[in-house]
Amino acid sequence: MILKSFGVWLLCFFSGGMFFASSSLADRTSGPSADIPEIHLNSKGFSSSRQCGQCHKELYEDWRHSLHADASGNAVFKAAYMQVYFEQGESARPACLTCHAPVAYYNNDPKLTQPISREGVSCDFCHSIAEVLPGTAEGPQFRFEFGGLKQGSLQNSKSPAHQNRFNDLYQQSLFCKGCHEQKNKNGVSMIATWSEWKESPYSEKGVTCQKCHMEKIAGKTVASSVQKSTRNQISNHDIAAGHSLTKRRQALEIKIVDVETHRNRIRVKVDLTNTGAGHNMPTGLPVKKIILEVKVQEPNGSHRQIQQRIYQKVVADAQGRTVTHLVDLMLGKGTKVVSDNRIAPLETRHESFTFFIDEPEEQIISAAAYYSYTPEILQPTPIHIKLNEVQRRVR
Ligand code: HEC
Ligand code: HEC
Ligand code: HEC
Ligand code: HEC
Ligand code: HEC
Repeated sequence: MILKSFGVWLLCFFSGGMFFASSSLADRTSGPSADIPEIHLNSKGFSSSRQCGQCHKELYEDWRHSLHADASGNAVFKAAYMQVYFEQGESARPACLTCHAPVAYYNNDPKLTQPISREGVSCDFCHSIAEVLPGTAEGPQFRFEFGGLKQGSLQNSKSPAHQNRFNDLYQQSLFCKGCHEQKNKNGVSMIATWSEWKESPYSEKGVTCQKCHMEKIAGKTVASSVQKSTRNQISNHDIAAGHSLTKRRQALEIKIVDVETHRNRIRVKVDLTNTGAGHNMPTGLPVKKIILEVKVQEPNGSHRQIQQRIYQKVVADAQGRTVTHLVDLMLGKGTKVVSDNRIAPLETRHESFTFFIDEPEEQIISAAAYYSYTPEILQPTPIHIKLNEVQRRVR
């Protein structure tokens, strides 16, 4: 690896910060090159993602548009957080910030006064993690290592700005478990994405969260003006799911496997398979549903009949009432899981629908899957996203 125009890097420590001064062997009096930014990384705690972005330009651009970067800034979170705060007072702060603004939590800045506290799940938060510890009721627990050390998945990498260490944790799903697994105070599982994955065939085959959500894409780990490198691939730091419709559409496959007509009766058999998600469909907080909708109609669109099947996890409170509001779920009102018919990874559901029509005319049969989610705090009507649709004509 060639360090462009740099011979010696001097590391000077002062007042908790780490200062990287550079000088070329040819001219020791010259200041840092115009190409390489002068960076002051924090050796005792977290540094701002913007600083990382000075060198890791492409990774920064991908991350910047991710939901992780916006985990404490997005409108749905903020509205829910405010309501939980209103009901629960100060204790809401640590309860929500541990995962949504982890830097604020660990820096003890619950009011998010520092700009770095508002960076959501940031570069340095993730890359200072040395170990994921079994979580507590309070939230996830990590062991960090600072001192200018960045851990990751690269073998034999060197950086002028920090020490590097390969840590195979970064290629394991366990790394993500820290935040993507959560029980409420009654022990009811709220988010179980990691367990769902762990029990699936993907876990045995070594298909980790990273393989699907941080796939390798063309790019440079650091801008070539900083360091020339033979590495031409980066792990996608957009870590997308919901905000990428392509990703959502990969998850489910629908097939009309059989249509049986008898006089004025039509029986439609549909297979719905979770082909693409490494966890249940849907996964995460129990505020989402998958709706399978089968429609029978005449070619001119008249006499339309619709039937549905819904796949979701239903949680109830101590009185047996269903808890659907996100904020009530967040306040720990759920005491038990009443039902859970979500579709496990690679599982196929064989569904059958029976319709009765007036006249044995030609019919168009279609089956579609929707992802449905109601962020009640912001809008009362559910958001329906069509994932896939298949059609068939009979008679
Ligand atoms: C253990 C980590 C963790 C804690 C603690 C946590 N969250 Fe989350 N939250 C997540 C994850 C992970 C998601 C991603 C969506 C999913 O999997 O459903 C999420 C999603 C959300 C969403 C978006 C819902 C959606 O599905 O789009 C809101 C709103 C939210 N959280 C609010 C809160 C509030 C308010 C608190 C504090 C009471 C809180 N969260 C505490 C991890 C956490
Ligand atoms: C002055 C430029 C510069 C800055 C600033 C910088 N890095 Fe780096 N970093 C590098 C270089 C160069 C590499 C080596 C890249 C390679 O080998 O392809 C590297 C490698 C890494 C690696 C891989 C480590 C491994 O062993 O897997 C991680 C993770 C990383 N940096 C994170 C960060 C984070 C987080 C920040 C901000 C706190 C940051 N970097 C700031 C230049 C920089
Ligand atoms: C949610 C946690 C998380 C965040 C946030 C995050 N990373 Fe990473 N990063 C990872 C993981 C996990 C890997 C290893 C992926 C793999 O190899 O499968 C990785 C890999 C890397 C690597 C090694 C090269 C590569 O592309 O695989 C570098 C360098 C890096 N990250 C820098 C950054 C920078 C800079 C930021 C902020 C702009 C950032 N990361 C934000 C988790 C994170
Ligand atoms: C520090 C906690 C934390 C860690 C570690 C973490 N996440 Fe997240 N993740 C979150 C939170 C919080 C959200 C939800 C943000 C929201 O909706 O407000 C989220 C959202 C997501 C989403 C949804 C994005 C979308 O477009 O809908 C995916 C996918 C995801 N995380 C994957 C991962 C993977 C893979 C890893 C491990 C490499 C990981 N996360 C590690 C906290 C974390
Ligand atoms: C086999 C590929 C695959 C694996 C492995 C995988 N995912 Fe996903 N994930 C997907 C797909 C496809 C989606 C989009 C469908 C959906 O929204 O559920 C998704 C969605 C998500 C979402 C968004 C859920 C929502 O409703 O917005 C989160 C969060 C997430 N994954 C986290 C993880 C974590 C954490 C792991 C590891 C424990 C993981 N995923 C493993 C493919 C995968």
